Amino acid sequence: MIRSRLIRFALGAALLGALPSAHAADAAKGKELFDEQCSVCHETASTEKKMGPGLKGLFKREKMTNGKKPTVENVTKVIREGGNGMPAYAEILSQEELEHLLAYLKTL
Ligand code: HEC
Repeated sequence: MIRSRLIRFALGAALLGALPSAHAADAAKGKELFDEQCSVCHETASTEKKMGPGLKGLFKREKMTNGKKPTVENVTKVIREGGNGMPAYAEILSQEELEHLLAYLKTL
């Protein structure tokens, strides 16, 4: 009984240790993706509108244009689903690429 719990604990700890590094979001990769996919329509150095709103300070805002708080979840939803002139990226970006992009957006 105690032994199997110990083993489970050890396995859990090993997994927790391994996952984040296997999946580390990389803001530099996110910037590359942004420059390729998003910069035609979005400024990053200001909030000025290009095709879409400038994204400087996105995560520090009270609300996005859709009225929602810019949490990781809500920003991910905007990027995946698009709408109002924003393309949907659900089919274009992998989960990993999305995480890189979010890491970059948080630096703005
Ligand atoms: C063809 C132009 C275009 C491209 C390319 C584009 N967007 Fe957008 N984006 C828009 C428009 C237009 C809006 C405003 C939508 C609205 O008013 O609800 C928007 C909104 C957003 C918002 C919400 C901002 C806010 O304050 O509400 C985020 C975040 C965003 N885009 C991120 C991205 C990312 C990341 C990419 C690249 C993967 C990208 N966009 C590519 C046009 C674009």
